[in-house]
Amino acid sequence: QANTRESLYLVSEYASKYFQNILHKTDQGKAIGLSYFKERGFTEETIKKFDLGYSLDEWQAFTDDAIKKGYQLEFLEGTGLTIVKDNKQFDRFKGRVMFPIQSMSGRVLGFGGRILTNDKKAAKYLNSPESDIYHKSKVLYGIYHAKQSIAKEDNCFLVEGYTDVIQFHQRGIKNVVSSSGTALTPEQIRLINRLTKNITVLFDGDAAGMRASLRGIDLVLEQGMNVKVCSFPDGEDPDSFAKQNTLEELTDYLEENSKDFIQFKASLLVADAKNDPIKKADTIRDIMNSISKIPDRIKQEVYIQECSKIMDISESVLFTTLAQMGKKEA
Ligand code: CTP
Ligand code: MN
Ligand code: MN
Ligand code: MN
Ligand code: MN
Repeated sequence: QANTRESLYLVSEYASKYFQNILHKTDQGKAIGLSYFKERGFTEETIKKFDLGYSLDEWQAFTDDAIKKGYQLEFLEGTGLTIVKDNKQFDRFKGRVMFPIQSMSGRVLGFGGRILTNDKKAAKYLNSPESDIYHKSKVLYGIYHAKQSIAKEDNCFLVEGYTDVIQFHQRGIKNVVSSSGTALTPEQIRLINRLTKNITVLFDGDAAGMRASLRGIDLVLEQGMNVKVCSFPDGEDPDSFAKQNTLEELTDYLEENSKDFIQFKASLLVADAKNDPIKKADTIRDIMNSISKIPDRIKQEVYIQECSKIMDISESVLFTTLAQMGKKEA
């Protein structure tokens, strides 16, 4: 078992080097992969920092190369980099630009690969399948490059995508990680909890991003951490927004638009139907439900005071509601 894992790590490490080599050193890599990244606005330095690569648009170029170098098919298949079907071998990431996913300590665990076209029929991103070394619910893209900065800034920005992380770094904000499109998990939050108690959720400015932000809030609160949410203008994501703005503009935007979870939920109501009493009651219940997840009694009380002010409702009814919620769960 330990041996298998070590072999999977070695294959992944080799693959990452191989894909980088293809990107920087081959005609196809340069013409297709490298120009794709440059068109997205990534500098050479950024591309190297994140070990970005390219997988040739051929059926088994990577697999053949790795086998020639002595890597065993068993482990190539074990990482998911090679797909074996009817005794034939295929490169999973054929013709995609490659984003290696690293552990907290910098080991390559798996990959995300993006198609270069905007072909709506093909999946935009393919990711490594679960393996003995890659568990997608337990990794955060970018954690290796972010960990020092998260501790130093005592805050972690959480974004949806690979390119959001990379563009933020290029602009000069390093305390940022991505859940890579999957629903945020308690294990992922625990990774951040080792470095800071403060998370700011920065999801895409669309309905899916909004839903994902809302889902993340309670998970963060349950671990006794503090959560803020910052939304982006419609149709923008952290990558596109960072690209259009200077570091100062970006930092100002983040400061001015980060709301604690009560302000955030209240602001959704205002946008929705400020004067509808039923919707207002639903929002208050929703906020109270989030407050009930907070393990610290003192923090709960402070948030109840805030909720009372913002929603213009008495504290006493909120305390009664909280007590009832506690009973229901016990
Ligand atoms: N994702 C995925 N599979 C897909 C689409 C998305 O795994 N078919 C994951 C990727 O990790 C992606 C993240 O979800 O980075 C966010 O998705 P999305 O916002 O659609 O992509 P972006 O990161 O904005 O990618 P891009 O800017 O390259 O279009
Ligand atoms: Mn690196
Ligand atoms: Mn999105
Ligand atoms: Mn996005
Ligand atoms: Mn994007």
